[in-house]
Amino acid sequence: MYGKLCSEFYDVDKRFAELDEVNFYKQFIDKNDLILEPMCGSGRLLIPLMQEGYQVHGVDNSTAMLANCRERANNLGLNPILFEMDIASMNLPHSYQSILIPLGSFQLLYPRETAFNVLQNFKKHLRPNGKLILDLFIPWESLYKDNENEFSEKDVIIEDGRINLKSHGKSNKYEQYCISDSIYTKVINNREVVVENEKMYLCWYYRYETELILEKYGFKNIIYKDEFFRNENHMIFIAESLGCDEN
Ligand SMILES: C[S@@+](CC[C@H](N)C(=O)[O-])C[C@H]1O[C@@H](n2cnc3c(N)ncnc32)[C@H](O)[C@@H]1O
Repeated sequence: MYGKLCSEFYDVDKRFAELDEVNFYKQFIDKNDLILEPMCGSGRLLIPLMQEGYQVHGVDNSTAMLANCRERANNLGLNPILFEMDIASMNLPHSYQSILIPLGSFQLLYPRETAFNVLQNFKKHLRPNGKLILDLFIPWESLYKDNENEFSEKDVIIEDGRINLKSHGKSNKYEQYCISDSIYTKVINNREVVVENEKMYLCWYYRYETELILEKYGFKNIIYKDEFFRNENHMIFIAESLGCDEN
């Protein structure tokens, strides 16, 4: 679960989606549509879309990420509709024309069966012929390593100091997941003031495998796009939800 310090780190590290990413999503949505962003976090994409007049609801299971989303949106004069829920069991009082999940967030769902249940839940929340827009990536470097310990470290600068992130990861290329243990440390005036631990899984799916999975869980007319933004490769799937009579 994304905690308070992890959320603070995220907002400095990622802030808001750049224009190229926002423009990419705009091709597939309409201002009259009701749109859902599951795993919306602190509004990195939701807020820029709302600023452009799109009606986007957000769902996330992290209190801290949603609090940051609300605060960042309020500072820009926006008042987003946000639900604090686990997307595996979410049951929302709306149905949506589009569901979009940027930045590989869907890959945080573990084990894979959870991800498959979530796809079925998305389908329940989509109008017939509604669209699912799913952004995935493959951590290619994990293919060269199996169960090797990997260590990484990153600092972000905050107003009065820095937040340090140390991660220890291991990947399983056969079962297609990485597991990472991270420690976030806030350092102010050279003193450690807060420490937070986080464990995270990240699954990955290959292109044709993803298309088959989407088909199996009730999606059709799948379009695939290879995109490059944030200096990263993104595999984007745009799939239509089957109508009730097509199931
Ligand atoms: C990498 S962040 C991405 C946030 C946002 N999609 C973006 O593009 O910046 C992933 C988000 O997924 C949320 N999350 C992870 N598992 C979840 C679950 N089972 N249900 C709801 N939210 C979840 C986390 O709290 C976090 O805010």
